[in-house]
Amino acid sequence: MTDPRAYAAWGALEKHAKEISAARLRDLFARDTERFNEFSVSMPGMLADFSKNKITDETLSLLVRLAKEANLERKREAMFSGDKINTTEDRAVLHTLLRADTDAEVKEVLARMGRLAGAVRDGSWKGHSGKEITDIVNIGIGGSSLGPQLATQALAHYHHPRLKSHFVANVEASDLTRTLAKISPETALFIVASKTFTTAETMQNAKIARAWLLAYYKGDDKAVARHFVAASTNAQAVSAFGINPENMFPFRDWVGGRYSVWSAIGISVMLMTGAENFDEFLKGAREMDAHFRAAPLEKNIPALMGLIGLWHRNFLHYSAYAVIPYHAQLARLPAFLQQLDMESNGKTAAVKTGPIVFGEPGTDAQHSFFQWLHQGTDVVPVDFIAAVKPSHGTKEQQTMLLANMLAQSEALMLGKENKPEPHRHFPGDRPSTTLLLNELTPRTLGTLLAAYEHKVFVQGAIWSINSFDQWGVELGKVMAKTLEAELNAGNPGAHDASTLGLQGYILKK
Ligand code: F6P
Repeated sequence: MTDPRAYAAWGALEKHAKEISAARLRDLFARDTERFNEFSVSMPGMLADFSKNKITDETLSLLVRLAKEANLERKREAMFSGDKINTTEDRAVLHTLLRADTDAEVKEVLARMGRLAGAVRDGSWKGHSGKEITDIVNIGIGGSSLGPQLATQALAHYHHPRLKSHFVANVEASDLTRTLAKISPETALFIVASKTFTTAETMQNAKIARAWLLAYYKGDDKAVARHFVAASTNAQAVSAFGINPENMFPFRDWVGGRYSVWSAIGISVMLMTGAENFDEFLKGAREMDAHFRAAPLEKNIPALMGLIGLWHRNFLHYSAYAVIPYHAQLARLPAFLQQLDMESNGKTAAVKTGPIVFGEPGTDAQHSFFQWLHQGTDVVPVDFIAAVKPSHGTKEQQTMLLANMLAQSEALMLGKENKPEPHRHFPGDRPSTTLLLNELTPRTLGTLLAAYEHKVFVQGAIWSINSFDQWGVELGKVMAKTLEAELNAGNPGAHDASTLGLQGYILKK
């Protein structure tokens, strides 16, 4: 593991950060009328404006030097070529192959997914009692839920009119119970989405859903084949669960959970939006992959997202960033990015690593935590995201929406002096990046998500961490098993006084 402070550019960036910290963003704009052109990059379907960040030509050239010293380009090619860069799990990292349109096995699974989606959508796939499917229920958690949920909601304007989608993730019973109350066993299609097919919450929910179905069909397990499919890497566990191998959509262990929406895990998205739109989603990501591999780092959207994020984290010492999508259908983007970024880069290294990610759609967020963004004591860079062309609604609504987004980034950057009245004083000088999609389509959504995936990769590569494992979630999982057995038996185990006290309180109720 390389200590990033050993790179010569690291020290130069520390020095540069001290020099630049006195400069105000508004002065950088006043000094250079070309700032927007210099620090924005466009590619098919999207524009990324980095100019409202505290960067100069020198900052960028030092960041690019750092990336080169850290062998970012070589590491990037190692990922794309399938080297086993996930060293702690001895695995390649090839989610990019899922969208490359080159791999026979990937294409074969996509074709099978397309046949299922086509049959469900055209009504030829019938439930056990002969009725058409009306409800798609994805049972899965983490990456087996967040990506599909985000993409399904984002593409609501592409949904098949007969189909409704549902996501059951939490083991807390209301997720499943409330979903089952809304659907019929005659017209529901359950997708058990789990890479490992061992995740406790998912298996628990899937078992209850299967029992609910079988109770309706009086134990006739032929019903399972018409109402259950699986997306997993674990064929054995899928068949042990009773799902017909024909209804199992596989993928390989080189697909990480949080990178799996492009795989069979995305089948709920395909069912709702159709195989052609899913293909567009893959194409959008493929375009970002090509851009990430070919564009010079100075004009490379994910590289700049990663490098400027690292500049914020390590040199300007900001510990979080906010993601504010100005589109209600992107409401799950912050949750998706929390897993993508924090599970990938929430690792220990010689320097500070992955920041906290939070967010809510604008304009709603403006009426909750934007007060803190404008006048709070911490500076938190913001990613503003919007689609220029609306998906629906009136021109007035869209204009109001975009005006609000522009106003927020401008206000954060400029601020407003009013020292005599501190409550009306806006310090300004607060950075943001704006990502404009021409329109929210399957293609631009694919491009956007792939940009964030590569951003996370860029940072992990420079921090010298493995962005593709998640050992930090294991300890709690193992301890939960022991506690579950103790609670079931009514026997408190050997624990600290707090855990014992809480366990005792629960057992008495
Ligand atoms: O607990 C973390 C995790 O392993 C995530 O990385 C993953 O996305 C999620 O659990 C679900 O895992 P699976 O798809 O195997 O059910």
